[in-house]
Amino acid sequence: MQSEKIDQIKAEIAAANAGNPDELEAYRMRFISKKSVVGALFAEMRHIPNEQKKAYGQLVNEVKQLAEEKFQALIQQVDSGGREKEYQGVDLTLPPTTWPVGGIHPLTATRQRIVEIFERIGFNLSEGPEIEDDWHNFTALNFPENHPAREMQDTFFIEKNPDIALRTHTSSVQVRVMENEQPPIRTLSPGRVFRNEAISARAHCIFHQVEGLYVDENVSFANLKQTLYHFAKEMFGKNTQVRFRPSFFPFTEPSAEIDISCQLCGGKGCNICKGTGWVEIGGSGMVDPNVLENCGIDSEKYTGFAFGMGIERIAMLKYQINDLRLFTENDIRFLQQFRGLL
Ligand code: PHE
Repeated sequence: MQSEKIDQIKAEIAAANAGNPDELEAYRMRFISKKSVVGALFAEMRHIPNEQKKAYGQLVNEVKQLAEEKFQALIQQVDSGGREKEYQGVDLTLPPTTWPVGGIHPLTATRQRIVEIFERIGFNLSEGPEIEDDWHNFTALNFPENHPAREMQDTFFIEKNPDIALRTHTSSVQVRVMENEQPPIRTLSPGRVFRNEAISARAHCIFHQVEGLYVDENVSFANLKQTLYHFAKEMFGKNTQVRFRPSFFPFTEPSAEIDISCQLCGGKGCNICKGTGWVEIGGSGMVDPNVLENCGIDSEKYTGFAFGMGIERIAMLKYQINDLRLFTENDIRFLQQFRGLL
């Protein structure tokens, strides 16, 4: 009687199948759990006469083992069945989806290029705050008390406090470097600057500058010229001509504006260079001894040169961009043209 029942359960186990987790659970309930039919066979034990207990126990254990083995097989079957289902419908012969590759912003690329050129001749990088005090932006740089650059039309002051402003140039960073280090100093300060100007194709109230400073014994104007020649040729090509025009800055003496030969017409004269063959890229000069002294550097012993350029301006000349506003409009058609620049 019992053995018939056992055979029937064995047959049932052999025929059992599970195609999903629910069916697997149903199997477990029927053949593995305490309340399963196999569990019931064990419970039967106490009604079996003593002399048959051993044989009965062996049979039931066999069933239990069969049920376990089948359970493991079914688990694997459900698992791999699940995976096969997940991957169904993937057609490996389809062409791949291509995502457009982003590009470096032309201003970032230009700044990077400038930094590389100067790094190779021994300049390090320095940074400073965009919100500056009067001392670092003006006074230490020898700006007279009544200099027009201090007036409201050029400078953004913070909450009407005349002592705190958005820096109008990165020369402020050079003051900070000179206050904290003794010569030799060779540093480059790229950064964002702010001027209260109407936005047009040629001017913006926020733009970027990179300024350089070299202070050591016997630094001369010839060193300044040679350094900027080197830069212009590296940046714009070896046929680029450089011209220095006398100028004025409160913090340099003598001072010079730096021009390069027009990239578009090669110096013959066109509408970019307004027929002159030259375009301006920045200002420069020998650091005024007052500035060195203001920053705790002995002006009897040391001399220095400084220069400053607008990064937008360099990028406009290099890539022949005629409107500065394009840099900040985020027009993808403009930006896409610079993909792969770096
Ligand atoms: N700081 C000047 C400007 O912003 C540029 C400059 C830097 C000129 C260093 C001379 C020397 O216009």
